[in-house]
Amino acid sequence: MSEAFLIALRTIADTLLIEEPTEMQPYLVDWRKRHEGSALAVALPGSTKAVSEIVKLCADYCVPIYPQGGNTSVCGGSVPDMRGNGIVVNLRRMNRILSVNPQDNSLVVEAGCVLANVQEAARATNRLFPMSLGAEGSCQIGGNIATNAGGTAVVRYGNMRDLVLGIEAVLADGTIWNGLRTLRKNNSGYDLKNLFIGSEGTIGIVTAAALKLFPQPRHTVTALVAVASIEDAAQLATDVQNQFPGTVSAVELISESEFALVVTHIQGTANPLSNRAPWYVLVELAGAEAEDVMSDRFMSALEASVNTGAVADATIATSERQRQQLWHIRHHVTEANVKGGMGLTHDIAVPPAKIPVFVRRAEAALASAFSQAVPVVVGHLGDGNLHYIAMFSHADWSATVDKSGCASAVGRLLYDIAFDLGGTFSAEHGIGSIHLREMARYKLAVEVELMKRVKSLFDPAGIMNPGRVLPDSNIG
Ligand code: FAD
Ligand code: LAC
Ligand code: ZN
Repeated sequence: MSEAFLIALRTIADTLLIEEPTEMQPYLVDWRKRHEGSALAVALPGSTKAVSEIVKLCADYCVPIYPQGGNTSVCGGSVPDMRGNGIVVNLRRMNRILSVNPQDNSLVVEAGCVLANVQEAARATNRLFPMSLGAEGSCQIGGNIATNAGGTAVVRYGNMRDLVLGIEAVLADGTIWNGLRTLRKNNSGYDLKNLFIGSEGTIGIVTAAALKLFPQPRHTVTALVAVASIEDAAQLATDVQNQFPGTVSAVELISESEFALVVTHIQGTANPLSNRAPWYVLVELAGAEAEDVMSDRFMSALEASVNTGAVADATIATSERQRQQLWHIRHHVTEANVKGGMGLTHDIAVPPAKIPVFVRRAEAALASAFSQAVPVVVGHLGDGNLHYIAMFSHADWSATVDKSGCASAVGRLLYDIAFDLGGTFSAEHGIGSIHLREMARYKLAVEVELMKRVKSLFDPAGIMNPGRVLPDSNIG
């Protein structure tokens, strides 16, 4: 059967097919090299029509499809499982910007376009596409949509869901749905695009998108602020948003342990502050005010906080180069964490005001149950979203006999705290293949049941990214 399927797959026009095992390898292992799968082939379609023909063929032969973008998923969502009975459909050849319309602040793009290229296309017309994250040089717009990605600008511009005006998608039977509208208002029934945003490839393949653009802010002011406690960090986040309403475009948190990992493992980074502190907050303001006015006002606010003891130290970037250096630190945390040990990452969110309580409780719980794990924390403070990482040294991790038992126990500890505070176990990375247990444990049964009904409506044969997002009924 699979030979007949492959023979038919080879005839589909405008598609590169990889079948040789070593050539398939980069598509079968994720960016952090934590997940590895197997596949019959990797298909690289060059057009929506080609995607449609591939999906139709898979539906005819009941062959599982694993949609893939930049393969930067951090929850095991982007590579197949080990069964080897499906194909990876990677969108990277569908990378054209189809139109940019600065008049109505919109841009239409194929789904395989790399995020940084979309940012650049917007910039070329003096517009801003605000989504920004460490993987922006490799992740694709289709992947950002499929995961409803967050990143560092959510505090001002929202998640990917807030930045999408319309999508085109290929449904599980090969039907092409062209919903590439650029309307700001459209209450003509259910908003179907929102089902695809965050669906992680389980109901169809996103092939193109209409995105929102914004005017480029005239000036940005970027500061790195050192604070003595998580309470001071949270207070700073609140104060800065109250003092500069509508202007704050990033409020990012970095623990001292995370900062040390970046400085140790990422070339060209250094701590620009003379005083070390337990926590650092990267704050960016972006607005229309003259740069010196904005910068002076921010500097005065920080000085006042230094005088009251709420801020330990701070530096404001005085050039674009210095600004890029600060962001270089922030955007390289994941790379540093991969090099620095075995980090168990927990992408939690709680209501922003509860971040200090979460951090205090998590720190105590981790120290008492897993004393060898160092808490390494980075995240989007302004959104109440932290990546709380239990970092094991390579030696301790190698000596851990029951690795998956240990990972589940650490997860349970931290997710229970987040849940108790009204939070979530997955703020922005998604479910992928690693959070099926948490879906069963923390989501309401009625929510999971409705999701399963949506899934079976869009994908009755269950061929789209099987084993992702939805837990089997017997998992617990
Ligand atoms: P992939 O990893 O290839 O796929 C992710 C999921 O989307 C999979 O389930 C896949 O099947 C599905 N998918 C991909 N393309 C399509 C498509 N066209 N149609 C349907 N389904 C599709 N995430 C954040 O939210 N915020 C961050 O700040 C952040 N920072 C990161 C920093 C680093 C260094 C790294 C490695 C990752 C980071 N991530 C972050 C996670 C990741 O980059 C995002 O989830 C990103 O949106 C994934 O895009 P991708 O193109 O790589 O998708
Ligand atoms: C970040 C990724 C890990 O915020 O989401 O750096
Ligand atoms: Zn993040």
